[in-house]
Amino acid sequence: MLENDIQEILFSEAQLKKRVAELAQQIEADYAGKEIMLIGILRGSFVFMADLCRCIDLPCKLDFMAVSSYGKGTSSSGQVQITKDLSEDISDRHVIVVEDILDSGNTLSYLLKILEHRRPASIRLCALLDKPDRRTKPVELHYAGFTIPDAFVVGYGLDYAERYRNLPYIGILKPSVYGG
Ligand code: IMP
Ligand code: MG
Repeated sequence: MLENDIQEILFSEAQLKKRVAELAQQIEADYAGKEIMLIGILRGSFVFMADLCRCIDLPCKLDFMAVSSYGKGTSSSGQVQITKDLSEDISDRHVIVVEDILDSGNTLSYLLKILEHRRPASIRLCALLDKPDRRTKPVELHYAGFTIPDAFVVGYGLDYAERYRNLPYIGILKPSVYGG
């Protein structure tokens, strides 16, 4: 059972559902009358992205990008690499980057810079989780789901060494699982 590796459930399925709908409402209000383009950062954002986009009642395009910065560990290596670029052109689009978690800010400060160079009409960041204690690079976060303490969390798309993404809730992983 996956649940045996979880120390504490932080956000239940119901809590996630409610908060995701609130974020979608905020986005709907802010972009009323416009078409948006959601860019999901693979792989962590895929569950959040799927739920979020279905709550947004606006014309919407979707695309995905993949970056690697973590390897198999639980802290950022500091080096960011694009492993899959966008398929769509984002120039003149209202872009919202959708991310699972804003941690050190390393990945997103790098990524946002790259995307800004492609001249979108606007660009904002939406992250389900925010871990501000760990920030080393400042990143502006327009839509934040929940602020969490400095603990390693999994589930609802978030992984440890590619596992636990399929948990329907978000929980703190037992440190014994990663030898902590
Ligand atoms: P950053 O570059 O340090 O902000 O890291 C961002 C990425 O690290 C996220 O997209 C996640 O994939 C991963 N990450 C950071 N914290 C956690 C965590 O607590 N659990 C799982 N993945 C995490
Ligand atoms: Mg990840």
